[in-house]
Amino acid sequence: MRTIDDLGDVRGRRVLVRSDLNVPIQDGVIGDDGRIRASVPTIAELAGKGARVVVCAHLGRPKGKPQPEFSLRPVAARLGELLGHEVRFASDTVGESARETVSALADGDVALLENLRFNTGETSKDDAERGAFADALAALADLYVGDGFGAVHRKHASVYDVPSRLPHAAGGLIAAEVGVLKQLTEAPRRPYVVALGGAKVSDKLGVIANLLGKVDRLVIGGGMAYTFLKAQGHEVGRSLLQEDQLDQVRGFIDEAAKRDVELVLPVDVLAATEFAPDAPHEVVDATAIPADREGLDIGPRTRELFAGRLADAATVFWNGPMGVFEFDAFAGGTRAVAEALIASEAFTVVGGGDSAAAVRKLGLPEDGFSHISTGGGASLEYLEGKTLPGLAALED
Ligand code: 3PG
Repeated sequence: MRTIDDLGDVRGRRVLVRSDLNVPIQDGVIGDDGRIRASVPTIAELAGKGARVVVCAHLGRPKGKPQPEFSLRPVAARLGELLGHEVRFASDTVGESARETVSALADGDVALLENLRFNTGETSKDDAERGAFADALAALADLYVGDGFGAVHRKHASVYDVPSRLPHAAGGLIAAEVGVLKQLTEAPRRPYVVALGGAKVSDKLGVIANLLGKVDRLVIGGGMAYTFLKAQGHEVGRSLLQEDQLDQVRGFIDEAAKRDVELVLPVDVLAATEFAPDAPHEVVDATAIPADREGLDIGPRTRELFAGRLADAATVFWNGPMGVFEFDAFAGGTRAVAEALIASEAFTVVGGGDSAAAVRKLGLPEDGFSHISTGGGASLEYLEGKTLPGLAALED
């Protein structure tokens, strides 16, 4: 992949930078700004070299038309604070505001376009529609830098189609993320342990299937653990359950045994009366969850078990919280896993928006991990061995 240096002298050139600025925003207030901070070095590097930087990104999943709650305007303000330089905001993607904003840029200036997903062309499955939007985006710039690692698994106009229309390079964030994930896929030091949590088993089935041939141990917590417990024949009460995935999960359990991959599941859970921050709850055995309760976190014995099964690892990849960490009462499991990684000497990678946000929300030191990825789906699909459209496009 070409780097920014390979683009030559960028002074005075308009550079379209695709970043991943998809951060949680509630009532105009940014929750976790990790992705914005991770995007700053590439933007600052280009601006420092005198480029006219046009940043583009998506926020949330609006359905192809402007929706004020998905506006990137608050992100432009935060990006400006972090850069220490005003970021001009275009109130559309490729319309009059975008054209005027870009043509008013001086060397070293930075602009941010409005949410790309306000235009149906960005995410369209129709190549011609996506291509037309990519043409309009490309017309705003002379050069393209792909740096939105969190979105490289999306075959979207700004990620996949624009690079073929402009001289292009990968930004430093993509280069760094790929460098780390390569170490996990090519020659991980062993024991190699993957800890998975989060709500949806279906999102992670591909990665589990692929990882069974690669890892020494798989630690499963969070909402997805209940489908595993049920597949083993235990009742899980009102806990999150993906009935339609049970057969496949049974297959994974058999396959893990055949391949000698240790599967570590919760032995106890915090069973609550309802999904609420202050829900009454008790510790119960994972094999005896009462019919009227739902598991919202792993229990204390499981925290110890998981920490122990992470302690001797040489490589750990962790994706997905172990419980509902947004509620203080159910954040203990996620904290325990994060702390086990911090205490470990292993090469530790945290992948995914939620796990990364949990680390910061729980006030844990980010430098306690070898790497915190800005990509959730992207890092999982990379580990699955899939070809990621946004990386393939940068390689051409
Ligand atoms: C993410 O949040 O994982 C990325 O920004 C991609 O967002 P998406 O899943 O809405 O495409």
